[in-house]
Amino acid sequence: MTSKIWYKFQLAICLLIGFSRSDNAPPNIVLIVSDDLGYNDVGYHGSPEIKTPNIDKLARDGIRLENYYVQPICTPTRSQLMSGRYQIHTGLQHGVIMPCMRSGLPLTLPTMADRLKSLGYATHITGKWHLGMFREEYTPTKRGFDSFFGYLTGAEEHFSHYMTYYNYTGLDFYDNLKPHNQSYGQYSAHVFTQRAQSIIQSHNKSKPLFLYLPFQNVHDPLEVPSFYENKFANIKSKNRRIFAGMAAAMDEGIGNITDTLKSSGLWNNTLIVFTNDNGAYIQLGGGNNAPLRGGKYTYFEGGVKGVGIVSGPVIKTPGVVNHQLMHVSDWFSTLTHLAGGSPYGTDGFDMWKSITQNVESPRKEIIFNIDPMFPPKGESKSTIFNTSIQAAYRYKDYKILTGAFGYDGWAPEPSLASGGVNPADTMKTPSDKNIYLFNVAEDPEERNDLTDSHPDVVNFMLKRLAQWQKDSVPVFYPQDDENCNPALHGGIWGPWVTS
Ligand SMILES: *[C@@H]1O[C@H](CO)[C@@H](O)[C@H](O)[C@H]1NC(C)=O
Ligand SMILES: *[C@@H]1O[C@H](CO)[C@@H](O)[C@H](O)[C@H]1NC(C)=O
Ligand SMILES: *[C@@H]1O[C@H](CO)[C@@H](O)[C@H](O)[C@H]1NC(C)=O
Ligand SMILES: *[C@@H]1O[C@H](CO)[C@@H](O)[C@H](O)[C@H]1NC(C)=O
Ligand SMILES: *[C@@H]1O[C@H](CO)[C@@H](O)[C@H](O)[C@H]1NC(C)=O
Ligand SMILES: *[C@@H]1O[C@H](CO)[C@@H](O)[C@H](O)[C@H]1NC(C)=O
Repeated sequence: MTSKIWYKFQLAICLLIGFSRSDNAPPNIVLIVSDDLGYNDVGYHGSPEIKTPNIDKLARDGIRLENYYVQPICTPTRSQLMSGRYQIHTGLQHGVIMPCMRSGLPLTLPTMADRLKSLGYATHITGKWHLGMFREEYTPTKRGFDSFFGYLTGAEEHFSHYMTYYNYTGLDFYDNLKPHNQSYGQYSAHVFTQRAQSIIQSHNKSKPLFLYLPFQNVHDPLEVPSFYENKFANIKSKNRRIFAGMAAAMDEGIGNITDTLKSSGLWNNTLIVFTNDNGAYIQLGGGNNAPLRGGKYTYFEGGVKGVGIVSGPVIKTPGVVNHQLMHVSDWFSTLTHLAGGSPYGTDGFDMWKSITQNVESPRKEIIFNIDPMFPPKGESKSTIFNTSIQAAYRYKDYKILTGAFGYDGWAPEPSLASGGVNPADTMKTPSDKNIYLFNVAEDPEERNDLTDSHPDVVNFMLKRLAQWQKDSVPVFYPQDDENCNPALHGGIWGPWVTS
C-alpha cells in the first residue's frame, strides 16, 4: 500500500471504531448547585432533621466526594465553577458581585458552557447566575448558554422574584434576555424544576445536553410553601423547620428531574453532578454544618468543605465514598475533557480517573484565596507572608488560615441547641491571633491548632502563599453605580450599561 492509501485505511478503521462505540458518546451533563446548603443539611450526612431522599439516592447510586472543596461564598464558587480559574486570577478575590457593581466574570475567560457548546452540546441554565450583569455581554446567553431562565443577582424573594438592595427594589427574573413576570407568586424550586423538565423534554437527542441548574434553595430569605414546612412539624426551631422544607422542595424537584430524564430516554447516558456553593450561613439559624467548624464566609471546613456527588448511569461504581482531594475549579477540566475536549489552560485538574477509579489525585494544593481588601487583622507574625491579610491555603492534609477568620464556633444542629445558636457566644479565637494551621485529614473538626507545634509546616505554607500572592492579579471591586436603580428601568434589575 502507498502511504496515502495506508493513511486512508487507518482513518476508516478509526472512524469505524469511533462510531461503533456508542458508549463513547459524550454524556448528558446535569450540573445541580444548591445555594448555601450546609454539610449537615443532607440526609446522607446524618442529619436527623433534614430529609433529602432523592439526593441521598443519587449518593447511594453514585460516588460521594468527601475530600471536595468549594469557596466560602457565592460568586467565588460560581466563577471558579464556570471558568476553572482561581479568584486570584480573575480579580474577583473580594466578596461577591453586588447588584450595582460594574463587575463580572472577565469576558476574556471562556465559560464551561462556551466550551461544551463548542464541543457540540446544547447548553441551558435555569436558576441563579451571579457572575455579572451590568452589560448584556456578561449575562448567560452571551456566555455560552443557548437559554437562560432565572435571576441575575445573588438572592431574592422565592415567590415574587423581587430583589431589594438598600433602597432599590425590582424584579430580577429573565427568560433569555426578556424580563419575565409570569412566574410571580410561584415558588422558585417549582419554577426552576418545571423549566428543567421542559428543557429535557424538548431536547433534540442528536446533541448531548448540558443543563446547569443552580437552585435558589436553600438560600435566604427562609421561605417555602407551607406544604413543605408542615412535613417537619416535629422540628422545634422555626427557622430550621422552614429550612428543612426548603431542602425538601429542592429534593423533590431533583426527583422530578431524574424521572423526566428517564421518561425522555436521556437517562442512560447522563452524568449528574450535585454540589453546594458554600457551607450554611448558620447565623440565620436554618442551615447547619455540624460537626464542622465555622460556616459561610469562613475558610474553616464548615465554610468550604463541599457537599459533592457524581451520579447517574454513567457512574459504574455505586455507593463509593471518594477521598481524593478535589476543588470546585476542577469541574471545568473534568467535564470538558469528559465531553471530548482537550486539556485546557485553567487552574483546575481533570479529576475523572481520581473520582471514578480512585487514581491518586493530581491536585496537591488549593489556593482558596488571598484577599488584600479584607480588613487586616493584627500584626504580621511572619516576614514571609503578611499574616494580617485574609488568606487560606491547603497543601496535602494541611490547611493554613491567616488574617480575620469570621465565625469560628461549632454550631450544633439548630433544634438541639438550647435557646438557638448565638455565634457571638461561641467565638474561640483570641483577638490578636491571625494564623491557624490544621491537619484536616486527621482533625476534620479543626479542634487542634498546630501553629505552635509545626513551625516548619507553617513556614512552608506561608512561602507558598507568598508565591501565590506574586501570581495574583489586582482585586477588582468597584463602587456601586446608582444607575443600576430598577426605578430607572421599569422596575426591573438588569443590564443598565449599553456602551
Ligand atoms: C435610602 O432612602 C432614605 C430615605 O429616602 C435616605 O435617607 C437614605 O440615604 C437612602 N439610603 C441609601 C443607601 O441610598
Ligand atoms: C409583576 O406582577 C405583579 C403581580 O401581578 C405586579 O404586582 C408587579 O407590578 C409586576 N411587576 C412588573 C415589573 O411588571
Ligand atoms: C434534531 O436535530 C437534527 C440535526 O440538526 C435535525 O436533523 C432533526 O430534524 C432534529 N429533530 C427534531 C425532532 O427536531
Ligand atoms: C414534582 O412533581 C410532583 C408531581 O407532578 C408535583 O406535585 C410537585 O410539585 C413537583 N415538585 C417540584 C419541586 O417541582
Ligand atoms: C437504558 O438502559 C436500560 C437498562 O440497561 C435498557 O433496558 C433501556 O432499553 C435503555 N434505554 C435506552 C433508551 O437506551
Ligand atoms: C500587612 O498588611 C496590612 C494590610 O494591608 C498593612 O496594614 C500592614 O502594614 C502590613 N504589614 C506589614 C508588616 O507589611
